[in-house]
Amino acid sequence: MREKIILDCDPGHDDAVAIILAVADEKLELLGITTVVGNTSLENATNNALRILNLVGVKDVEVYPGADRPLVRDTVLAPKIHGYSGLEGAEIPEPHKKPSTKHAIDFMAEMIEKHPNEVTIVTTGPLTNFALFALKYPHLVGKIKSHVMMAGGIAFGNVTPVAEFNVFADPEAMSVVLGLDIPKVMAPLDLTHQAVVDHEIVNKIRNLGKEYLKPIADLLEFFIGAYKRYFGIDGAPLHDPCAVMYLIDRDMFEWEEMYVQVELKGELTYGQTVADIWHLGGKDPNLRVLKKIDSKRFFERLLDDLQKIGT
Ligand code: BDR
Ligand code: CA
Repeated sequence: MREKIILDCDPGHDDAVAIILAVADEKLELLGITTVVGNTSLENATNNALRILNLVGVKDVEVYPGADRPLVRDTVLAPKIHGYSGLEGAEIPEPHKKPSTKHAIDFMAEMIEKHPNEVTIVTTGPLTNFALFALKYPHLVGKIKSHVMMAGGIAFGNVTPVAEFNVFADPEAMSVVLGLDIPKVMAPLDLTHQAVVDHEIVNKIRNLGKEYLKPIADLLEFFIGAYKRYFGIDGAPLHDPCAVMYLIDRDMFEWEEMYVQVELKGELTYGQTVADIWHLGGKDPNLRVLKKIDSKRFFERLLDDLQKIGT
């Protein structure tokens, strides 16, 4: 049976690749896409998700807009990495389809009621929608199969020295999510920085023979440029596809169960994911933290999947 997933995202260059992966891989059944403010406004994120679906010719996946602001903190966007539109660097036509009028968290609830213990929520943006879902529908939380998130950083951050963007953009939401008693898996920066896309891989993607991959290659070139400008590194980590890939082929990953908290008060550390890697606090682990990825296998599977749509 295919794994039923809802992809909650804020596209975003790497979210765009995660969407295509989720649509393409035969191991997954994408029930719908929910969107959240994060890399860009909710309106742009929603439009971007629709543009990517339209680009690859997928008509039967709906997009459900969610939160347009974080739970408590002021909104932070990521224009330096993704541009103001969220998908700068490529010409991607406007979609034919409109977003659903149903709210993201009501869609999550509907799917979880319909398929109890079968739905995995994959979040590749701030945790706002998922936290709101858990607060509005506490009786459904136990019926979620699992939650896989691209979030956090154990050894380093990318917005502040210690805070990763998806957590920093809504730390209070992350705090709600960490308290949920369901299987949770985290793909932190420490992992995603092992899945780096470079010019050579982008050229391979461009030449896979699918028209829809040309703008995706352009997006990735922009993304690589942003990482060079902003972080001074060669190549860009494909953060969000790592979370989706975990559900496709777990054998690519190594992990450890840990107790992880999020800092909500620190002047220098707001939004930091604090992982008890030595089990010093004696608390039971609340999270599976992905530590290593076989990047060769990751890119083989990714490139294979990216060209599958419409064949
Ligand atoms: C995360 O932040 C966003 O910029 C990316 O899309 C990814 O989800 C990486 O920190
Ligand atoms: Ca994202």
